[in-house]
Amino acid sequence: MSKITIRDILKKKGKEKIAMLTCYDYSFARILDDTGIDVVLVGDSLANVVLGLKETRTISFSEMFNHTRAVAQAAENSLVVADMPYVSYQLHPKNAVRYAKKFIKAGADAVKVEWFYGKGNNDCAYVVKDLVAAKIPVMGHIGLTPQTAHLLGGFKVQGKDMQSALNLVAQAKMLQKLGVFSIILECVPYQVARLITAKLKIPTIGIGAGKFCDGQVLVLYDVLGLYKKIHPKFVKMYVDLYRQTQNALHRYVFDVKRSRFPGAKESFSISPDEWAKVRRKMR
Ligand code: KIV
Repeated sequence: MSKITIRDILKKKGKEKIAMLTCYDYSFARILDDTGIDVVLVGDSLANVVLGLKETRTISFSEMFNHTRAVAQAAENSLVVADMPYVSYQLHPKNAVRYAKKFIKAGADAVKVEWFYGKGNNDCAYVVKDLVAAKIPVMGHIGLTPQTAHLLGGFKVQGKDMQSALNLVAQAKMLQKLGVFSIILECVPYQVARLITAKLKIPTIGIGAGKFCDGQVLVLYDVLGLYKKIHPKFVKMYVDLYRQTQNALHRYVFDVKRSRFPGAKESFSISPDEWAKVRRKMR
C-alpha cells in the first residue's frame, strides 16, 4: 500500500466511500493504518475521550500537537488530518497559518477547521483563505460544530428548518469555492446531507448525517465501546472494549492479590553457580 493523498481522496467521490476514524495515539494508529482506513483524524474530541475535559474548546495547541505527532509516526498509509483546536484559529484567526504549519511539521497531511462566524472578516472563510494561500490542505466541518455548540443551542441536529438547511448548503459551497478538499457534515438530516453531497464536487464525510455522504467518520473510542459517558444515536459500537478491558484487568488484580502473577514464565533467574556465590558471600 502507498500513502493516500489528497488527490486520492478527491478521486473517490462518487466511486468509492471514504472511511475515516479519529485516532489519538501511536499504538491505535498502527492498528488503524493496517485496516485500509483512508483518513485518520486527530480530533479535538481528544479533549473529552482522552483528557476528560468537558469542552473541546478548552484543549491546548500543545496537547493537540503532541498527539498529532504520535499518530503521524504510525500512519504509513492513511492520510492524517489534524483538528485545529479553538485556540489556534477561532480565538485569533491571524494565528491560523502559523499553527497549521506546526501541525504539518509534526507529520499531518492536512488540517480541519470548524465553521464559525467572527467579528468583521475574522471568520471561517478568512481562515480557510489564508490556509489555502499558504498551501495547507484544509478539511471543513459544518453542521454541529462542537467548538461553538454553545452558540448553536447545544449539541443538536442542525439544518432542521428551511433557513438553516439553506445556510448549510451556502456554507458548504463557500468552503468548496475557497479550496477545501472535503467537508465534514456533523448531525445534519440525511436529506440535507444528500443535497449538499450532490451539489459539491469535493467529498462530504458524514457523522450523524446519513448514508448518502461520500464517506463516514466516527470517534474511535465510540466505535470500540471505550467511552460510555454519552451514546449518540449515530454511533455504532463494534466491540465492547470497556467491558473486555475491565474483565481482563479484574483478572490481573485477582492474580496479583493471590500471588498467581508473575509465574516462572514471567520471571528472570540467576544461574545456580552465580547464586551459590551470592549465598556464600552473604553468610
Ligand atoms: O474531534 C472530532 O472527533 C471531530 C469529529 C468529526 C469526529 O471533529
